[in-house]
Amino acid sequence: MKPDYTEIVAGYKDKPGGIIEAYHAIQRAYNYIPEEAVAVAAQVFDMSKAEAWGVATFYSYLKVGERGRYIIRICESAPCHIAGAEEVVAALEKQLGIKMGETTADGKFTLELTECVGQCQATPVITINSKPYGDVTADGIADILAQCK
Ligand code: FES
Repeated sequence: MKPDYTEIVAGYKDKPGGIIEAYHAIQRAYNYIPEEAVAVAAQVFDMSKAEAWGVATFYSYLKVGERGRYIIRICESAPCHIAGAEEVVAALEKQLGIKMGETTADGKFTLELTECVGQCQATPVITINSKPYGDVTADGIADILAQCK
């Protein structure tokens, strides 16, 4: 069971930069920051909801709102782009029935774009929950998705 985000937030109440640490801890537990957790953070850190929301959305590595259990990121930097990342994107969108930035209705998959993930020797590259997959082809997508139980 996921830990209660109210408890997580409370644990950082008196720490400097506590709200950012709290958001990180929530994201580690949930894979994203539930919108209600932002309201809780506003209360605990004695700021307006708009301010707490501003902190949560300022940092690109913090993600507010529901995300899937499997976060699939496609590298869109030049080497991957040239190697055919667009076809991989099209195959993922088609097979999952969602667009980039969206989450499947069953909460299983989220699609996101990313910058170079340092695996340029095996372009195009995708990551699934941070694990890299190299030399990905549109035809190979079904097999990769099948590994995500
Ligand atoms: S450019 Fe895609 S991994 Fe480096």
